[in-house]
Amino acid sequence: MPKITFITQDDKSITVDGQVGMSLLVTAQDHDLEGLEGMCNGCCSCGTCCVEIPELGGTLLTPMYSGEKQVLSALVHTTQNSRLACQIIIDSKHDGLIVKINKIRHNTLYITGS
Ligand code: FES
Repeated sequence: MPKITFITQDDKSITVDGQVGMSLLVTAQDHDLEGLEGMCNGCCSCGTCCVEIPELGGTLLTPMYSGEKQVLSALVHTTQNSRLACQIIIDSKHDGLIVKINKIRHNTLYITGS
């Protein structure tokens, strides 16, 4: 199983076994890691699963498709290393991947009424 290291919102490093074929979002949620709400349940429409993948790790990932790019472009707190955890499916080549959970809790596209 590929080992995935999450850097939590309080800067703790937690390494978990990643299951090939599962998303980073589900992996984080299965290990009760806070900060990835996944409000749209992985449908690539909310942005609440936004993470940072340090540059070297990013080269291991599949390229973003247009829907992921569109969601990320609408979020406020992103960098060039931002990705959506629901869109990254774990592969055996992801062993050693580092994933930073955003410290901004409400990085979301949902607009709530007053
Ligand atoms: S869970 Fe909504 S965009 Fe990833």
